[in-house]
This record gives sequence, C-alpha cells and structure tokens, in this order.
Amino acid sequence: MRKKELDTNTIRSYIQTPLKIGDLIIKNRLALAPLAGTSEVIFRSICSEYGVGLTTTELVSARGICYDPKLKRNYQYLAIDPDKENAVAIQLFGHDPADFKLATEIILQHPILAQVSMLDINMGCPMKKVIKTGAGSALMKSPGLAQQIVKAVVEIADKYHKPVSVKIRSGWDQDSINAPEFAKLMEDAGAKLITIHARTRNQMYSGQADWDIIEQVVDRVSIPVYGNGDLTDVISILKMYRQTNCSGFAIGRAAQGNPWIFAEIFDPDFELTNQEWLTVIDRHVSAMIEKLGDEAIAISKMRTQLSAYLKGKKHASKARNAIMQCTTKRRLSEILCTI
Ligand SMILES: Cc1cc2nc3c(=O)[nH]c(=O)nc-3n(C[C@H](O)[C@H](O)[C@H](O)COP(=O)(O)O)c2cc1C
Repeated sequence: MRKKELDTNTIRSYIQTPLKIGDLIIKNRLALAPLAGTSEVIFRSICSEYGVGLTTTELVSARGICYDPKLKRNYQYLAIDPDKENAVAIQLFGHDPADFKLATEIILQHPILAQVSMLDINMGCPMKKVIKTGAGSALMKSPGLAQQIVKAVVEIADKYHKPVSVKIRSGWDQDSINAPEFAKLMEDAGAKLITIHARTRNQMYSGQADWDIIEQVVDRVSIPVYGNGDLTDVISILKMYRQTNCSGFAIGRAAQGNPWIFAEIFDPDFELTNQEWLTVIDRHVSAMIEKLGDEAIAISKMRTQLSAYLKGKKHASKARNAIMQCTTKRRLSEILCTI
C-alpha cells in the first residue's frame, strides 16, 4: 500500500512537469485525445479548467478546408478559444500533401486560428470513409506519402513557429506493425511529437491496447511520445509510464462526459459534488446554445455528450430516454435534478 502511494505520488509529480514540444512549452503531461463529436471547443475549455495540458480538435478534412478558404462551414470544427484553453492542436486528415499545405496556410493566416499551439496530422483514423481515400490509418501503409504530408505541413508551420505532431496507431494489422520505424520517419520529416494509440487499424477500438509498442516507439525516436489507449486513472498512467517511459499521456474515451478526470488524476483529494456536476453540464449546454443560437438544436446535438455525463449515475437510462424527447434547457435541468 505504501509503495503504491509513493508511486502514484511520484507519477503525479512527473505529469505536472512541463513538456517541450519543439519551441512550445506544454504546462503538464496530460492530454485529451482527439474525439470526433466530443472534443469541440467548449468541452476542451472545460477540460482545460480541470487541468489538462494539451487538447486536440477532432479530425478536419484538409481538402474540405481548401474548398472553404473563408472557413464558413469548417470553422465550427476548427474553433479554438485561446483565452480559456491551455495548449490546443488542430488535427487535419487527408491524403494529398498539396491539400495539407494550403489548409495549414489558411489556418495560420486566420486571425483566431493562428493562435493555435500546434498542427496535428491524423494517421490513425480507422473509419472506412476516411481510409478508402488513403487518409487516416491508411497512411501507415504509405510511409513515403506520409513523410511528404508531414514535410508539407512543417514547411508552412515553421514559418509561423508552430510545431507539427502526428497521431499514429501500432500499424495496419497484426502482421504489419510498423509504428517504431514509421514514427522515426515522421521525426525525420520534421514532426516534433508522436501520439501513438497502441492498437492496429484492424482492432479499431476493441480488445486491449498493447502498450509494448509505445515503449518501442519511445526507444526509436528522440522527440516526445504521448502514449494512448485504455488510460482511465492515475494507476493506469503509472502502469503505462513504468512500461513505456513515455513523455505524456493522452486520454480519450475515459474523458467523455468526465472532464473532471484530469483533476482526479492530479489531485487524490478531488471529489466532484453533485452541484458541480450540474453546474458544469449547465455551463456546457448554455455555451452550446449560445454557439449554435438555437436551444433545441444545441440539446439535440449534445445528446451523445449528455448521455456520457450520465455514465455511472443511478437512473441513467431513464434520464437518457427523457433527454431523447427534451428540447429546452429548463426541461433538461428538471431531468438532471432527478438524478
Ligand atoms: C468517438 C471517438 C472519436 C474519435 N475521434 C478521433 C479523431 O477525430 N481523431 C483522432 O486522431 N482520433 C480519434 N479517436 C481516437 C482517440 O483519440 C483515441 O486514440 C482512442 O479512443 C484510444 O484512446 P482511449 O482508449 O483513451 O479512448 C476517436 C475515438 C472515439 C471513441
């Protein structure tokens, strides 16, 4: 028991130390992994309040940005709030270096988006609609093209003094695990950070992440590596650190509906009261209504997130059903107050 306590204290001290990524200093070593549908600006700001050092937008199509240079359609996905967020990266996906180059230029010339901390390239997405174009995790089968993409982003990002990171998986499938050599090629192309989700593309999100591959990536490159896959609390972080010696820790699903996870990891005495739970959901919903300008639309868009906030609560399924019919903040408050 004493040793475990000592170790969790040691890891708590470690994750509170700053991390240098290129010229960027991140205030600590916890990150929110990119989560399509969840890691939008309001949720990320809440995670920042609870201490996370680095967050990332969901994946946004580089080509989509090229076709939308004024960002009329894409701004909602790219939005950042430099006043409320700690470090934040914008994540791009695609398969054509020319698209990445132009998209990076558009982002870094935008008055607000230019304040982004880092550009991140998605080489891990397993979804069919993404990989069929050669993007996402399909790039792990084309290291030459992946390097060209990194070089294209770095060429532009360097001019604005922004580091570039790459998010990868272990490999395409069990027979083609190539993360260590692939990560080294990304470093050679100019990437300043690797985040590795320790599953293959074929595993999607199932089974257990195999953290051995994180250790191999850490050994192979000289830039920081964030380990990712199945982190849920300080104990899992401690285990990953012992096993891999990685520089940082990216938490995905365990943060959904649970932005407090970062405070819980940093502070063993942190305890969420029911009042704070209600207040944060209320602030999240109110900010979403303000952003979208329509109460019913905001609540309907937030259903998955609201459902995640109910995880582990008594009467959650009854509340989830009621939320399906709910169109106003007032009714939502009534539902949540019954929990
Ligand atoms: C709903 C959902 C959306 C995701 N969206 C993205 C994304 O936009 N970009 C990305 O690189 N990874 C995405 N991921 C993968 C996560 O960032 C992370 O790598 C994965 O969930 C494993 O980490 P975890 O075990 O902590 O959840 C997504 C995962 C989920 C479950």
